[in-house]
Amino acid sequence: MDAVTGAFSYTGRSITRRLLEAGREVRTLTGHPSRPDPFGGKVSVVPYAFDDAAALAAGLRGAEVLYNTYWVRFPYRGVAFDQALRNTRALLQGAEEAGVRRVVHISITNPSRGSALAYFRGKALAEEAVVRSGMSHAIIRPTVIFGEGDVLINNIAWLARRLPLFGVPGTGTYRVRPVFVGDVADLAVDAGGRADNSVTDAVGPETYTFEELVRLVARAVGRRPRLLHLPPTLLLGPPLPLRWMGGLVLCDRVCGAVQLPGPTPGGLVGRRALRALRDLVGVARGAPRGGAGACGRLRPPWRGGATPSVPDAAAGRARGL
Ligand SMILES: NC(=O)c1ccc[n+]([C@@H]2O[C@H](COP(=O)([O-])OP(=O)(O)OC[C@H]3O[C@@H](n4cnc5c(N)ncnc54)[C@H](OP(=O)(O)O)[C@@H]3O)[C@@H](O)[C@H]2O)c1
Repeated sequence: MDAVTGAFSYTGRSITRRLLEAGREVRTLTGHPSRPDPFGGKVSVVPYAFDDAAALAAGLRGAEVLYNTYWVRFPYRGVAFDQALRNTRALLQGAEEAGVRRVVHISITNPSRGSALAYFRGKALAEEAVVRSGMSHAIIRPTVIFGEGDVLINNIAWLARRLPLFGVPGTGTYRVRPVFVGDVADLAVDAGGRADNSVTDAVGPETYTFEELVRLVARAVGRRPRLLHLPPTLLLGPPLPLRWMGGLVLCDRVCGAVQLPGPTPGGLVGRRALRALRDLVGVARGAPRGGAGACGRLRPPWRGGATPSVPDAAAGRARGL
């Protein structure tokens, strides 16, 4: 049996799918134990109990490998990065106590203690906790992850669909190399089956400037918003809704792109290309669905609930979404 944090969320869902396909039993730890289960009851569910060491260890007992996707995207409802770090440490301690032999930890490209961004500082410290744990470990460092249910691409699409202007932080010339969520999951599951300690970058085969990425996604939903270059400080400072309006919803990954020109050398390159999004322009005009890298839900960051997928762009417009 393996434990996956967030099996009903984003990256954890892809990892879980791969594990189930490989015949593994999966238990998930999650903050939303009642969330709809896309795996038809095949995954057992344990709620996060970061402040209860005994419950945390009990939830992990019997697992051979912990696939840890836990982190927060931005400070929200009292959970900031320092709290996320404490929770990560508690999770690792619980795993050790429960006798888990290996942890596959999803980090991010170029985490750094010295980063100006709390997200990346926290990720560096979380990696250190993984390395210090008594478990063998594989650390995977993805760039921006795209695929069904992703946040960055879907939020760009959501904003591009609705607004005539799209706020780009700074010059927009900083580069991103999106990696497909399924490729990250393949890497993770492969790493779970090994015993060596490793750190691997997970980067996609294509490089875009952030501005190119925005234009590509906007084209995929049939829009051409005017790009408005805004000082990054303006977007980082004000309250969240304004950051969202500025296209920085996605704040963590975009800030990462601002800060980080690309992956460290020797990183593993994912196979799937984001360029397949271009197919979706055709899909939006009524062509059949399909295409590797097709994105899933278009979810406005400040609203929950069912929303259309990028392939459903035409239908979404019809419903006024
Ligand atoms: N998404 C990307 O583009 C990207 C890029 C590079 C690295 N990463 C890293 O990959 C890992 C997984 O990212 P993801 O986007 O797939 O994350 P996610 O699915 O949104 O969340 C992963 C786990 O963290 C929990 N979580 C997230 N925000 C939380 C909050 N505010 N309070 C409490 N729990 C919270 C989720 O809880 P629930 O189970 O309750 O949903 C889930 O169990 C993270 O470590 C992230 O830093 C992501």
